[in-house]
Amino acid sequence: MFETDRLILRAFRESDWEYILKLWNNPTTQRFLWLDYVTPRGDKFVKDVLKPGMENATLYVIITSKDKRQANGEGEVMGYCEMAIANPKNREGHLEIGLLPEWQGMGYGTEALRFVVDHGFREFQLHRMSLGVLEGNAAARAVYTKMQVPKFAEFWICANDIAWLRFTVDLKRRAGGGR
Ligand SMILES: CC(C)(COP(=O)(O)OP(=O)(O)OC[C@H]1O[C@@H](n2cnc3c(N)ncnc32)[C@H](O)[C@@H]1OP(=O)(O)O)[C@@H](O)C(=O)NCCC(=O)NCCS
Repeated sequence: MFETDRLILRAFRESDWEYILKLWNNPTTQRFLWLDYVTPRGDKFVKDVLKPGMENATLYVIITSKDKRQANGEGEVMGYCEMAIANPKNREGHLEIGLLPEWQGMGYGTEALRFVVDHGFREFQLHRMSLGVLEGNAAARAVYTKMQVPKFAEFWICANDIAWLRFTVDLKRRAGGGR
């Protein structure tokens, strides 16, 4: 379980599906997470898409609030963040993040992602991290642009309407002990 200033990033548990599906069933949020048609998503989507994605991820965290508590005393579920390392040899992690609409626009996405990116570089010894941003997702692009991780960041446009962002660690600085 990881902590940032305002968040606890904990492991997934079955009761979280309710929140994850709520997130995916917001049309705007789904539109920014998914290239396919925007439609209501239920158990089949969990089984065919979400669960395999989660199982393939090297790091999958549920983002919860430190301040706002559920009835059981645990932090309210805000969303998720995952990192998949498709080919460990290449030391590249691929990121995905989603927050429930009521938690968007308050800096939580930036806070969670800063932690996960830093964790990937420090603990998993990755050299690069990437993510895809769908056209029109201005909030996501703003977050990734302002993150100011002590690494190089570059955007480039790919097929369809996706812009790919890749954070690249500065290996010379790492070799010299800098971060
Ligand atoms: C993308 C997402 C993770 C960002 O997290 P967040 O907590 O909402 O973002 P933050 O509050 O940290 O930052 C949002 C930034 O976008 C800016 N922003 C929001 N809407 C904007 C717009 N239409 N145009 C330009 N900038 C915009 C905000 O001003 C803010 O920047 P600032 O802090 O410099 O003012 C979250 O909004 C989300 O889950 N969206 C739906 C799913 C999604 O898009 N996932 C990412 C797929 S790449």
